[in-house]
Amino acid sequence: MDTYILAIESSCDETSMAVVKNGSEVIALSITTQMDTHAKYGGVVPEIASRMHTEAITLVLEDCLEKAQMKIEDMSAIAVTYAPGLTGSLMVGVEAAKILSLMYHKPLIAVNHLIGHIYANNLENKMEFPLLALIVSGGHTELLVMEDDYQFKRLGETMDDAIGEAYDKVARVIGLPYPGGPNIEKLAQMGEHTYDFPHPVLDDTYHFSYSGLKSAVINLVHNETQRGNRIRKEDLARSFQDVAIDELVRKVEKALKETGIKRLVIAGGVSANQYLKREMKELCEKYEAELLIPRMLYCTDNAAMIGAAAYPKYLKHEFSSYTLNVSSSADIV
Ligand code: KG4
Ligand code: ZN
Repeated sequence: MDTYILAIESSCDETSMAVVKNGSEVIALSITTQMDTHAKYGGVVPEIASRMHTEAITLVLEDCLEKAQMKIEDMSAIAVTYAPGLTGSLMVGVEAAKILSLMYHKPLIAVNHLIGHIYANNLENKMEFPLLALIVSGGHTELLVMEDDYQFKRLGETMDDAIGEAYDKVARVIGLPYPGGPNIEKLAQMGEHTYDFPHPVLDDTYHFSYSGLKSAVINLVHNETQRGNRIRKEDLARSFQDVAIDELVRKVEKALKETGIKRLVIAGGVSANQYLKREMKELCEKYEAELLIPRMLYCTDNAAMIGAAAYPKYLKHEFSSYTLNVSSSADIV
């Protein structure tokens, strides 16, 4: 019998619901974003985010069911992101999921947002194991080995800032709106590598570091501005992006070489970056490894990926009770 999961995602500034069939087929996906509101403040304001989720959530539910041409009664389970993210935002989704689950007698499945980003790949290609998973988002930069469904081993993570955070902060210092990633990428496409920013020196580990690079960019902007010199933002964006992405490439190359694994999955908002995709494609060709990156819509925050990640839990009957709580920082491993 087919499994239909109604999935809810509200961990940051997108309110999203989806109906996903058998963990891989998106029957309907509805997303509203608060990006324009937060852009005015240069970043996500948690208090505003939770209020906007509350306003949006029933409308998103109606829209999603309408698109799916299905009713809650038709669902096999209700899945929801419970961590990590903004506490108030997560709570809106989790409370909605609990109510639906209780009212309609459907099992409740708690999903980790980062695991959701990885399982977004199942919406396009079925993941086969073992694989290397690189998570690159606004809050996380992690390199993992997956031996099987939900079997994670962490190779490395960032020692300080996440890569998306570095993109957002660099964007801010040169006056680009939030979220900075796509804006920096656009500028970088028009620039040359002219500024020499330092590479992090964690070469013999799988760990990442972005605060040194971020500070070097911010210091350069401040110093040049003080001296009255003009900065070519395109060149700055390009020089920053080259180092930021190269850091990922070097660690993934080390992992491909040392583990011998022939499959790489990239997940999280930063995987929407075209330059990252090109570099990783080249690297995987060199090591004859398969590269999996979901399409743009599934790279950034959405509920379909939560439905995909909930499916293996559904099969194993790993359900949550109504005491399910949110967590702002739940580790995968
Ligand atoms: O996964 P995501 O949508 O939300 C989190 O869970 O954090 O990732 C958002 C992050 C932001 O930092 C944003 O600037 C970055 O992903 N991002 C990008 C691009 N698109 C989004 N970074 C670089 N290049 C992009 N094209
Ligand atoms: Zn995310």
